[in-house]
Amino acid sequence: MPTEPLLRALARMRGHLLDADTLVRAVASGRQKGAGVPEVGGRPVRRVELRYVDLKAGRHLQVTSYDETQAHTANFLSGPATGSHAAKEAIDDLLDQPFGNWHVETTTQTHHVRATKRLEAVVHSADRAEPVVVQRGHDRDKPRMLAEDDPVLKALGISDAQGRVKPTRQAKYRQVEEFVRLLDAAITDALDKGHLRKPTEADPLRIVDLGCGNAYLTFAAHRHLTRPTDEGGLGVPVHMTGVDVKQQSADHNSRVAAELGIDADFVVGTIGDAELPDAPEVVLALHACDTATDDALARAVEWGAPLVLAAPCCHHDIAAQLRKAPTPAPYAVLTRHGILRERLADTLTDGIRAALLRLEGYRVDVVEFVGSEHTPRNTMLRATRTGSGVKGGSLKKEYDDLVGTWGVRPRLAELLGRTAGDRPGS
Ligand SMILES: C[S@@+](CC[C@H](N)C(=O)[O-])C[C@H]1O[C@@H](n2cnc3c(N)ncnc32)[C@H](O)[C@@H]1O
Repeated sequence: MPTEPLLRALARMRGHLLDADTLVRAVASGRQKGAGVPEVGGRPVRRVELRYVDLKAGRHLQVTSYDETQAHTANFLSGPATGSHAAKEAIDDLLDQPFGNWHVETTTQTHHVRATKRLEAVVHSADRAEPVVVQRGHDRDKPRMLAEDDPVLKALGISDAQGRVKPTRQAKYRQVEEFVRLLDAAITDALDKGHLRKPTEADPLRIVDLGCGNAYLTFAAHRHLTRPTDEGGLGVPVHMTGVDVKQQSADHNSRVAAELGIDADFVVGTIGDAELPDAPEVVLALHACDTATDDALARAVEWGAPLVLAAPCCHHDIAAQLRKAPTPAPYAVLTRHGILRERLADTLTDGIRAALLRLEGYRVDVVEFVGSEHTPRNTMLRATRTGSGVKGGSLKKEYDDLVGTWGVRPRLAELLGRTAGDRPGS
């Protein structure tokens, strides 16, 4: 493949990035082999997106940088007319970072620059069939993982035939977008740190979506993860399996998969008992009802899945136990109020789940994945198997104290064969 000096290629991209009239968007991602991690504002980042937006104060370069867990957006005043060098300086700072790829779209062309080992670059440039018109409106939402007119969203009925998200499906779109955004970050991190093996076309990453329902998440995840990096995807071969107890979900989802040409399996069965030919490596569960989330987490542990992302649904089990058991002192002031008791039950349930996963050798983060103004079901448990199992010590004691104090029997503990924090043989 023909190469050219990386600096020369980046100097050309700099010209496109600085052109606030013709730049549509640009994405810098990955890192150069043998170089450090790119940083923005002193924070390590894995991906940065740039575009120009028109704000009240004039045209600005908008830079959205993604670290492992979050997106950060900053706006820089642009243009010689204003006398401001802010946008230019921001672009130069980004070009100085050791990103492995730059994808730059202008109104008439697309460019992809991939840095190779010896500070050389492989560059692909192509003319667009037709010039595009750029939207410069200030979109307060984060850049999209799946564009509204993506064929997957149309096939799922989230977008209409014109490629616009239907007003009634906005919440679903936001939820799936955010889940996929976190999945992208978690898989990138797990691949970088070696917690997940590097998948190949012949041996793709095995992902299961437990309680998949109409498989919005299954298809959106497949689309984003398999799309090439120069189109904004992750470029990872994956095989998706959806599990749901409903036959009609499997029938519907198989039809959609065939329509989209996606190779995915849909298994009819319960999360607890569904049989899969091979143990999945990534386990997803989005709003599996009540203790079905516990079933999903227990299966993930049984399979030894390196990565688990679960956004729990309603939390009836512990809530019902709290209603029956006497409240330990001095927490009666909290549980006296129904709404606070329910919230406490939610927190207790997810805290217990996180502790149990940690005892099973997972590193666990509990994060918000959709703003709480949109839905109360906005918590996600993100667990990466690090292999360093906790056999005893303070975590186990803390866990025992917690369930002992509240007198609860967590479903996940039973599924994992632990009672009062103890597990046979551990
Ligand atoms: C609230 S829906 C969520 C569907 C999908 N994950 C989403 O977020 O769009 C929950 C789904 O989980 C399925 N489900 C609940 N409990 C289950 C279980 N124990 N085994 C298999 N599927 C289950 C239901 O049939 C339903 O389709």
